Amino acid sequence: MTKTLLIVFHSMTGGTCQMAEAAAAAAAGQGVVVRLLHAAQAQVDDVLAADGYIFGTPENLAAISGLMKDFFDRSYYAALGRIEGRPHALMVCAGSDGTNAVRQMSRITTGWRLRLVAEPLIVCTHAQTPEAILAPKTIPPEDVARCEELGAALGAGLAMGIF
Ligand SMILES: Cc1cc2nc3c(=O)[nH]c(=O)nc-3n(C[C@H](O)[C@H](O)[C@H](O)COP(=O)(O)O)c2cc1C
Repeated sequence: MTKTLLIVFHSMTGGTCQMAEAAAAAAAGQGVVVRLLHAAQAQVDDVLAADGYIFGTPENLAAISGLMKDFFDRSYYAALGRIEGRPHALMVCAGSDGTNAVRQMSRITTGWRLRLVAEPLIVCTHAQTPEAILAPKTIPPEDVARCEELGAALGAGLAMGIF
């Protein structure tokens, strides 16, 4: 049966959205069904129905974004014990750091007993001033390529039954 990759993301200024879209397009080329859902739309039933996951968030105030936290808060206990062992990867769009957002999502996905199958991917937009931070983001081609590689790896691994 065709496997499903669920990508849940949030994005305020567009960076994480471009990362998630790049991963989704590359994964779709590997023969899996890809569901790309904004964090506000994603429900626990979407989590339960998927075979693997990519979670993508901006790092805001050294944390995952509020809407990503809301998604995890809404789905964590309803999915606990029901998705153990499924593969996942993490993507973070940050101004200059991103490590704390990775750490937070890792704690959540470790609690779910998901299996991390790729290095967490952090893309830094180098936004430092308030104006730059609030401006729409364009992810450069080399970073888009990293997101495509991640999506393709998850998609191929799921399609081939490696995970
Ligand atoms: C309220 C706020 C807090 C932020 N805090 C951090 C931070 O703690 N560390 C960091 O590296 N970037 C921080 N940033 C920068 C964002 O991570 C960066 O602009 C990134 O591109 C946001 O992703 P997005 O375009 O998907 O919204 C912050 C941005 C905002 C708006």
